[in-house]
Amino acid sequence: MQQQLTDVRERMIVALDFSSMDEVKKCLERLQGHIRYVKVGMELAYAEGPAIVAYLKEQGLKVFVDLKVHDIPNTAKGAMKSLARLGADMVNVHAAGGTAMMAAAREGLEQGTAAGAARPLLIGVTMLTSTSKETMNHEIAIPGTVEDVVVHYAKLTKQAGLDGVVASPLEVPLIKKAAGDSFVTVTPGIRPLGTDQGDQTRITTPEQAFRLGSDYLVIGRAITGASDPAGVWQSIVAAVEADRA
Ligand code: C5P
Repeated sequence: MQQQLTDVRERMIVALDFSSMDEVKKCLERLQGHIRYVKVGMELAYAEGPAIVAYLKEQGLKVFVDLKVHDIPNTAKGAMKSLARLGADMVNVHAAGGTAMMAAAREGLEQGTAAGAARPLLIGVTMLTSTSKETMNHEIAIPGTVEDVVVHYAKLTKQAGLDGVVASPLEVPLIKKAAGDSFVTVTPGIRPLGTDQGDQTRITTPEQAFRLGSDYLVIGRAITGASDPAGVWQSIVAAVEADRA
């Protein structure tokens, strides 16, 4: 299903990591006519509330509501019911919540989706792209390699009936091998050449991410923090299209 989205612009999700509607409006003005899909994370959702999703939908944008739900199954189910009612196109939970929580989340999402409407894509977060092996091993106390843990979480996510995972593009080939080509991969940790790595560790360029098989790229600061966001957007699209030609 995801493979039919041949226009690269439908697959690039801009992370609106702002704390107010004003900042969002300013950013959207500069990217108007270019972007198709945006992500609302905790900073914006907690500051502006559910109205922000309705506003973005009114602008004709698709919306990934990235609240990374991780709670007991009953609470996760209720959270997803509410998110489905907001009209989100994509939502997520932490795979570390386990299969019972993920299955409950899916049930809640189905219950909250209006009759005749498409259920939002439900994605499991594997290991945050800012997490290094050292942090995972010594602080989160999970032994092994990040790749092994990500693949384990991807399999659990699929087993629980979710549509895909959030992971680093570097892990996409392993995920597709373990869970199949149609299992959706959403990949943050994207840095066009020459941009600041910031707090991310497992990163690639946009071209590499698509080459590795990512279905959706999440790009934040490289675009929203640029002095010419539309220019950066266009250069990314051009670089990806050239790479595919
Ligand atoms: O600015 P940058 O491109 O690093 O933003 C990446 C976005 O993707 C942020 O909004 C961050 O919360 C989100 N994200 C992530 N790693 C995950 C899941 C989401 O970086 N595993």
